[in-house]
Amino acid sequence: MTAPVDDIQEVLFTEEQITRRVRELARAISRDYADRTPLLVSVLKGAVYFLTDLSRALAVPVEIDFMAITTYGGTKAQSGVVRLIKDLDVEITGRDVILVEDIIDTGLTAGYLLRLLQARAPASLRICTLLDRPHRRILETLDIAYRGFDVPDRFLVGYGLDYRERYRHLPFIGVLKDEVLAVRAAPDAAAALPEA
Ligand code: IMP
Ligand code: MG
Repeated sequence: MTAPVDDIQEVLFTEEQITRRVRELARAISRDYADRTPLLVSVLKGAVYFLTDLSRALAVPVEIDFMAITTYGGTKAQSGVVRLIKDLDVEITGRDVILVEDIIDTGLTAGYLLRLLQARAPASLRICTLLDRPHRRILETLDIAYRGFDVPDRFLVGYGLDYRERYRHLPFIGVLKDEVLAVRAAPDAAAALPEA
């Protein structure tokens, strides 16, 4: 039996690098939100690892909440249309909301979520993403207040990022071996990219 780590071709960010960067982001957020209580909002499940580490590194009081979404027949990459299957538990009107993302790729998911949240009249609304893949951006107007790392156009797993629900628990972020994508995935690896 092979271990999940054997399916990794290359580690892009080690556990230590991620920890250091998450602390830097937390410091910036703590500075910007001094005297406020931001509400960290994430989409299940990819951003959960990042959100929990980020929240624990914050020096300001903080609350967390979650949404869950699903895509319509795999067409999200083109349309950005996603369906909300779990809404937030709390009201966000008048709150300082930070949308915490694992990775922003085309930006369509984040764009959809921003519109949804903005309609509820929060006091402020910003994006914090651990990873940013700007080369694949379709929604070019997306304003990212906090970003951890820029990443290349390669399929990544670990620290919350999955391939078919696996590898999320890896403590580092790495590139999956081509043969793993080829064996388990379909026709082209790129098709695996936009799954939320
Ligand atoms: P976007 O709407 O294209 O920006 O989609 C972003 C979502 O796609 C992320 O929240 C991830 O769930 C997923 N995603 C994008 N790139 C990767 C990757 O390299 N590995 C795993 N999931 C990814
Ligand atoms: Mg995600």
